[in-house]
Amino acid sequence: MNRHPIALNGAHLNADARLFGTRDDLMASFRSFGPKVIGEIGVALGDFSEFMVRTFDAETFVAFDTFEMHKWPSHWGRSSEEIFGRHTHRQHFENRIRPLCTDLRVEVGLSGNTVPIYPDEYFDLLYVDGSHLYEDVIADARSASRVVKKDGTIIFNDYVLFDPFLKAEYGVVQAVNELVTTTDWRIVGFGLQQHMFCDIALRRKAAN
Ligand SMILES: C[S@@+](CC[C@H](N)C(=O)[O-])C[C@H]1O[C@@H](n2cnc3c(N)ncnc32)[C@H](O)[C@@H]1O
Repeated sequence: MNRHPIALNGAHLNADARLFGTRDDLMASFRSFGPKVIGEIGVALGDFSEFMVRTFDAETFVAFDTFEMHKWPSHWGRSSEEIFGRHTHRQHFENRIRPLCTDLRVEVGLSGNTVPIYPDEYFDLLYVDGSHLYEDVIADARSASRVVKKDGTIIFNDYVLFDPFLKAEYGVVQAVNELVTTTDWRIVGFGLQQHMFCDIALRRKAAN
C-alpha cells in the first residue's frame, strides 16, 4: 500500500494556474515560453514526443526510455510484430522522430541512471512519464528539479493514485505533492483525461 499523499493548499498553486480539457491543450499553453530544449522520460512509441516536437518546433529532443517494448508480445491490444515489424523499439522511435528533429538524443536505460548525467538547467521543458512507482517518480522529480531551467516547466503525466485497468497503485501524486510542498515548484496547469490519467504542470514560484 502506497503512502498517503501530502495535502496541498492554495499556496502550492500559481495564482494564474489553469485547467485544460486535454494534455495537448495544457502542453500547447507553454508555447508562449518558447521551449526549444525538450525531454521526455518514458517515450513509448513516440506519440507524445511527436506532438511536443511539432508543437514547440523543438531544436533538441532527449528521449529517455529503456526501449525494450519490442521484447514484449503486445501493447494496448496490438502485437509487437504489428507495431515494430523487424525493428527494435529504439529503431521504431528514431525512425519516427529523427526526421522531425535533427538534434535527437536517445538515452537508453532506467531514467534513474540516465537523467542524472545531464547538467544543471539543461531543459526548457521536461515531460515525466516513465515508471509510476513512487520511488522512481520521486527520483525523476528530484532530477527534473535540477536539470530543468529555473524558468522552465516540468509536466507529470498520470497524476492519479490508482490505475483501474492494470489494478496497480501509482506514486505520482505522492511524488508531485512532495516536490511542490518541499521546493519552490508550483502548480501552473492541470490537464484532464477521461479516465483521470491527468497531467499536472509545474513552474518555479519566482519564474511564474
Ligand atoms: C506510459 S509509457 C509512455 C507514454 C508516452 N509518454 C506517451 O504519452 O506517448 C511509459 C514508458 O516509460 C518507459 N519506462 C518505464 N519505466 C522506466 C524507467 N524506469 N526508466 C526509463 N523508462 C521507463 C517504458 O519503457 C514506456 O515506454
